[in-house]
Amino acid sequence: MLTGDRPTGRLHVGHYVGSLRRRVELQNTGEFDDIFIMIADAQALTDNADNPEKVRSNIIEVALDYLACGLDPEKSTLFIQSQIPQLCELSFYYMNLVTVSRLQRNPTVKTEIKMRNFETSIPVGFFTYPISQAADITAFKATTVPVGEDQMPMIEQTKEIVHKFNSVYGDTLIDPKILLPENQACLRLPGIDGKAKMSKSLGNVVDPFVLGERYGVDALRYEIMREMPFNGDSTFVAEQFLQRINTDLANNLGNLVSRSVSMVKKYFNGTLPAERETAAVDEELAKLAASLPASVEQKMDSLHFSDALADIFELISRANKYIDETTPWALAKDESQKTRLATVLYNLLESIRISSIMLEPFMPQTMPEIWKRIGAEAEETSWESIHQFGGLKADTTVGEGAPLFPRINIEKELEELASVA
Ligand code: TRP
Repeated sequence: MLTGDRPTGRLHVGHYVGSLRRRVELQNTGEFDDIFIMIADAQALTDNADNPEKVRSNIIEVALDYLACGLDPEKSTLFIQSQIPQLCELSFYYMNLVTVSRLQRNPTVKTEIKMRNFETSIPVGFFTYPISQAADITAFKATTVPVGEDQMPMIEQTKEIVHKFNSVYGDTLIDPKILLPENQACLRLPGIDGKAKMSKSLGNVVDPFVLGERYGVDALRYEIMREMPFNGDSTFVAEQFLQRINTDLANNLGNLVSRSVSMVKKYFNGTLPAERETAAVDEELAKLAASLPASVEQKMDSLHFSDALADIFELISRANKYIDETTPWALAKDESQKTRLATVLYNLLESIRISSIMLEPFMPQTMPEIWKRIGAEAEETSWESIHQFGGLKADTTVGEGAPLFPRINIEKELEELASVA
């Protein structure tokens, strides 16, 4: 068995359902004497001649994706196409067995030329890659080629070369069989543009690694849990994701934490005094904080994560509003209001504590950082502790750090995202 992929980007879910999963299953049946999995770097160069670094750096990415999916070097030979120069030699001879008009009729070549806007400037290497693919397959005497549906014309072209070769030079080459995904829906997974197949080269793929590296996995997980309820289809829209980072995470949550913590620093040198002086405005905040856990738990238990998040952010918004209502900066000017000021700041930290514990399942990297900032110890961050307003020790000491979710320049970021995709 032989198959392979061009290293033009990391592999994605289209590859997985279209071919990768199948390969691993076939590998593990033990049915095949030899399994060859090729990283087709030379083929990738046929439409990336001006970007060799992209091809070079993606060789290792594709290899890692192979291993991650369960291709096992003990059972399968993973190799790089350009390291077998004989494949070029074989392609050179096969070129005499194929006509230009036959290549022009190859449906995959035809659509790829259109998609890449090559028009009249089609690289010869690109045009003839079906021939080199025939060399890949026949050189290894492959009987079975598991690939996605888009590769069907390539295998047909290979079969024609095999027939022609065998009829002229005697029975030499093995006629390969294509193995398509069994699941109809997996034959061709559409990209996020809903049109062409999901394709690394077309950029109609969402790469969660790129997003996770740029914005943090917590932000990405938040967007997914907030935007994509389990009972319906959802679309990932990069602009919406970035907007949500700015509004929910940077402005709402991030600001609440940084404002509250820096006021404790500024007005109390980082440690709150333990005395309290409550006022009527405190009640509404404390009431909301106290009623939220039951509602959030019920939504979590019924897997309504998006609704649970909406609840939690209600408390965060409420706490931000509480800052405007209580105007701590005005209290700070009046020495007789010190105790009142400490109470206000405590209520803010306590609201942060309760919301961050509820957010921890969604953003497990950032929440412990928030706990450090508000000075919450391990026992003050247990799930049980959210049922009571006032769980944070009265004389807590805050910590400092960089912004948790830096604000994003959406326009600039979208441009950059488009260029790294
Ligand atoms: N054309 C395949 C792809 O798009 C890669 C490939 C190159 C291949 N040679 C092959 C696949 C031989 C199967 C067999 O990604």
